[in-house]
Amino acid sequence: MSELFSTLSLRDLEVPNRLAVSPMCQYSCEPDGLATEWHRVHLGSRAVGGAGIVMTEATAVEPRGRITPADLGIWSDEHAKALEPIAEFVREQGGVPAIQLAHAGHKASKTRPWDGNVPIRPEEDDEAWEVLSPSPAGYPPFDGDDPSIRKATPDDIEGVIDAYRAAAERSLSAGFEVAEVHAAHGYLLHEFLSPATNRREDEYGGSFENRTRLVREVTEVVREVWPDDKPVFVRISGTDWLDDRPSWDIEQSVRLAGELEELGADLIDVSSGGLHPDQNPSGGPNFQVPLAEQIRAETGIAVGAVGGITEPEQADAIVRNGRADLVLVGREFLRNPYFGLRAADELADEPESWPIQYRRAVE
Ligand SMILES: Cc1cc2nc3c(=O)[nH]c(=O)nc-3n(C[C@H](O)[C@H](O)[C@H](O)COP(=O)(O)O)c2cc1C
Repeated sequence: MSELFSTLSLRDLEVPNRLAVSPMCQYSCEPDGLATEWHRVHLGSRAVGGAGIVMTEATAVEPRGRITPADLGIWSDEHAKALEPIAEFVREQGGVPAIQLAHAGHKASKTRPWDGNVPIRPEEDDEAWEVLSPSPAGYPPFDGDDPSIRKATPDDIEGVIDAYRAAAERSLSAGFEVAEVHAAHGYLLHEFLSPATNRREDEYGGSFENRTRLVREVTEVVREVWPDDKPVFVRISGTDWLDDRPSWDIEQSVRLAGELEELGADLIDVSSGGLHPDQNPSGGPNFQVPLAEQIRAETGIAVGAVGGITEPEQADAIVRNGRADLVLVGREFLRNPYFGLRAADELADEPESWPIQYRRAVE
């Protein structure tokens, strides 16, 4: 019996199966951050393809929080309106629309991957902007002397928290049912968490309590505006993979997960790395699953596993063996938007999982 196709209950939300489309940047907006037809077709196809949750790419809570000028954003009502039909379509297909709320911090203001993924600076490029950092102490490829890297002041931090609150309110009005706080992959919130990048000496730096303060405060404001019957996820990097220096690791992740649960987070989406080019991740199928599994075992909070999951049986085994509650799939869903339908065929033999329009192909 397939566990991947069992219902996942989070608060009052019933997710029809344990398979989610992992957030994946499409770099396909104009600099205005508005969702386009590309997003509608891209996310809509994956909803047709049987994912229980379809998550948007990292969606910037303020313009400064975009990775590239082509990133998706949700900093105005117009942005929410552009996302509304997407959320509605996902729901019509029986999926749960989710949005990842993000701030790129130090890793913002870059060209798109296919244009080199290189930092662009306001002195040289009209589309560039000043980026925010917990402490601009240089870490490659950045340089502490770069005038366009701004050490976040207390006002900036308050601004980021307010931007998250407003973004969550707008996400709700757009029809999303899950809000995910992006605190992974070396972006702003992760930069605060990790002693490898946070050299602050105020209440947001130094001790575990101080470094985790911003993530806790952001989670708290998102939880405040997100209805009691709907879940909030937090994506973290379970480790920086930087064993040779003070950094973020699985023990701190476990402790943070417990605290986030107390603040009302419902699921920790466990990725890893992305903070520093010296990272030394293990890689391969399921390589991040042990991180998710440990957080689940030691805190009891629901977790999502992601990374190198490409086969239906592999995904099913992760859930069946109690290693995670949800399986997020990224690149395999790019290769095959109907991965969820393929998995349903292989594991559940339920032709009714297919959209009615396509059923003659499988009956
Ligand atoms: C094209 C692309 C864009 C991505 N964008 C995001 C993103 O916006 N937010 C995020 O948390 N992770 C992002 N990721 C990471 C994926 O969500 C996922 O964690 C990673 O690809 C590992 O899963 P996979 O092996 O199933 O692809 C991205 C990955 C890819 C391939």
